[in-house]
Amino acid sequence: MQTHEIRRRFLDHFVKAGHTEVASASLLLDDPNLLFVNAGMVQFVPYFLGQQTPPYSTATSVQKCVRTLDIENVGITTRHNTFFQMAGNFSFGDYFKREAITHAWALLTSPIDEGGYGFDPERLWVTVYLDDDEARDIWRDEVGIPEERIQRRGMADNYWSMGIPGPCGPCSEIYYDRGPEFGEDGGPEADEDRYLEIWNLVFMQNERGEGTGKDSFEILGPLPKKNIDTGMGVERVAFLLQGVDNVYETDLVRPVIAKAEELSGRTYGRDHEDDVRFRVIADHARTAAMLIADGVNPGNDGRGYVLRRLLRRIVRSAKLLGADRPSMREFVTVVRDTMAPSYPVLETDFDRISTVAVGEETAFLKTLASGSRLFENAASEVKAAGKKVIGGDEAFALHDTYGFPIDLTLEMASEAGLSVDEDGFRTLMAEQRTRAKEDAQARKHAHADLSVYKELVDRGPTEFTGFEELVTESSVLALISNGVRVPTAAAGQDVEIVLDRSPLYAESGGQIADRGTITASGLRVRVNDVQKIAKKLWVHKVTVEQGQITEGDTVLTQVDADWRKGATQGHSGTHMVHAALRQVLGPNAVQAGSLNKPGYLRFDFSWQGALTEAQKQDIEAVTNEAVAANYAVNTFVTDLDKAKSMGAMALFGENYGDEVRVVEIGGPFSMELCGGTHVGSSAQIGQVTLLGEQSVGSGIRRVEAYVGLDSYRHLAKERALLAGLSASLKVPAEEVPARVESLVERLRVAEKQLEATRAKAVLAAAGEFAEKAQRIGAVRLVADAAPAGVSAGDLRTLVGDIRGRLGNDPAVVILLGDVDGKVPFVVAANKAAQELGIRAGELVASFGPKIAGRGGGKADMAQGSGADPSGVQAALDAVRARVAELAGSN
Ligand code: ALA
Repeated sequence: MQTHEIRRRFLDHFVKAGHTEVASASLLLDDPNLLFVNAGMVQFVPYFLGQQTPPYSTATSVQKCVRTLDIENVGITTRHNTFFQMAGNFSFGDYFKREAITHAWALLTSPIDEGGYGFDPERLWVTVYLDDDEARDIWRDEVGIPEERIQRRGMADNYWSMGIPGPCGPCSEIYYDRGPEFGEDGGPEADEDRYLEIWNLVFMQNERGEGTGKDSFEILGPLPKKNIDTGMGVERVAFLLQGVDNVYETDLVRPVIAKAEELSGRTYGRDHEDDVRFRVIADHARTAAMLIADGVNPGNDGRGYVLRRLLRRIVRSAKLLGADRPSMREFVTVVRDTMAPSYPVLETDFDRISTVAVGEETAFLKTLASGSRLFENAASEVKAAGKKVIGGDEAFALHDTYGFPIDLTLEMASEAGLSVDEDGFRTLMAEQRTRAKEDAQARKHAHADLSVYKELVDRGPTEFTGFEELVTESSVLALISNGVRVPTAAAGQDVEIVLDRSPLYAESGGQIADRGTITASGLRVRVNDVQKIAKKLWVHKVTVEQGQITEGDTVLTQVDADWRKGATQGHSGTHMVHAALRQVLGPNAVQAGSLNKPGYLRFDFSWQGALTEAQKQDIEAVTNEAVAANYAVNTFVTDLDKAKSMGAMALFGENYGDEVRVVEIGGPFSMELCGGTHVGSSAQIGQVTLLGEQSVGSGIRRVEAYVGLDSYRHLAKERALLAGLSASLKVPAEEVPARVESLVERLRVAEKQLEATRAKAVLAAAGEFAEKAQRIGAVRLVADAAPAGVSAGDLRTLVGDIRGRLGNDPAVVILLGDVDGKVPFVVAANKAAQELGIRAGELVASFGPKIAGRGGGKADMAQGSGADPSGVQAALDAVRARVAELAGSN
């Protein structure tokens, strides 16, 4: 049975039983704890938790899922797909165990011609949670499964949660016995390869708290209602119903293997290591395409990194299989062809999807090529020294600089008869990780050596007073000059100052730092920037303008009020644009970065292709309408879970603490986790003017905008421009566009006429040139200077025309032009002349040097250009002489 059919039957079965069919959610749901949707129930979590009332009491879906935790197992076991489809039925306080069990059983065991999957009931086993007698009774007494095929299992196997706080409950799993040839007897308890899990029925009734692993977490208490969440592995059912050996050989995945066989020339099923590579390609190509379809782009962290890793593993596997040319496009094409019937976006968005995938392949192949050279050098040095081991430092350099995965280096080394110092490599990798962590903290900081701040960081955080006041009395804890502590700094010096308290905002969350001053009697210090060290120490970068500042001083630290006002407009404006963008473009427009400062903001988001004019206008209109609605801005601190359940937007890849600050503008309109400074109500942002939109990297777009007075200034400038145009065109402003359009049209017509006149003149000249043809032996020759200004293109037409007029006897035409100090030339020889051995292309050599010219062509026509107009006469003499020679010699 085809996979598409398996999906269809599942949905039909449950729709018939009264369930509402719900489409798969995107693989990216807004939960910073969850990289990708990994179960069918994820989109229904608020219903289970009782946070939202579901619009239906029972539902069914086939959810796209990605799990990459065991990516290393892909291709090695029979059942690990990084992308898979989970078919599920859900009850939100409606039916419970009995119906969940009997519905599943009916679909699995009813005959194929009655809409079921036709599994042999004798081969099905089930498991229940330790003390779940209720489920056991239903299976045994109502379904009729003999007691010996019902196994009880503990928390780790039969108690399901998402791995993070949320709904959970005991579960009952259904397994299919593939037969004794696949492992030992004894049911799922004994062997999960022979007994393959196909369906998990979760009796969702509790809420779990923090914890780790599958069985060590706290159960917070019962959910408001008893629910059902089930998940049937579509790929696993396909693998059983299609009689193949594993999930990589089903109808939707195997075709990619076939393509890889074709491209590599190797055959699947011959060699275990090759087979793993074939399966990796097939599995990853599908996952990558599905991720790109949902808006992920290759990157260096979070989701982007997972995608990059998948794509690179494909490239590497193809290479190790011996494929000698780029193959990504062909792999994703097969994915499209197999998967599009269920996921039409693969078809409609194919250009974008394949462009992203191929882009990553191209980049990686380039680094692989330069890395291979480095490897070969290293290998020959090792061999020349009579050794056999490539150093860990070389392997590390290959990884660090060229993105070589260690197994590729190992593979290449073994092909060269060498080995690699893997321990050395791993030590260097660990050191690099530590360094990277430290660097990330030191980023944007003048001194990479953070030891000078350590004591200050240990002393405790800087108290930020800037949400409540703009002036704060502070004491000077430390002065740092060029990375070392100094006791004091005098006028004219640039130093860093650490204070115990500060009202100045330190750059973070895209908002740049406040400007301000630090003063005391006789002292004036200008603050140019404020950066955070270790997230909690405010380091003020300052210029001492007057007096002297000394450790221990008591000072007044003051925010420049105008600056701050502008900064709040910029930052609140950013939230408004973000909200408007998502309203107009949908949830795939995920924030990728932002920067705001007084009067200006920019916002980066993942999106493929340029925004349309209408989308830009909509975004600007939605933003300004929301600004004008004068929404109150509320900020409050709450715990991360609460904030998320309220729908607050968080940045992916950002690590938030347990306590988070939420900035809410206009209730549901905009709610974000944010530590920035904001206006009191949205109208204070002032006008927001979008400046346009551009690409800033693959799949990332940027919008920029002016806010507040800068918006006004920008618009005023545009209005002045329009007034200027209106004055010079002598029409009222509103008629400028029509006027410009008509001018452009007239210009176009005039240019066309001019062109026609010129063409006529050129052709008229053809007649005169033809008449002046000289006879040299059997050849009629026109060798002349063309009228000044004739373009290279016209020259070609002219020469062709003259040649035509000279008839069928041997004829040669050479014209040298004169355009902007250059000498374009065209040479033509007709058929009869060619038969005499006169070739246009070869004639160029006879006169080219006289005009410092280069060019060439075929026997009938050649062209080129010279740089020295003073040689035109000499060139014409030279070519005449050469034609005479050739004509005479025949
Ligand atoms: N949510 C359950 C699972 O993912 C059905 O296994």
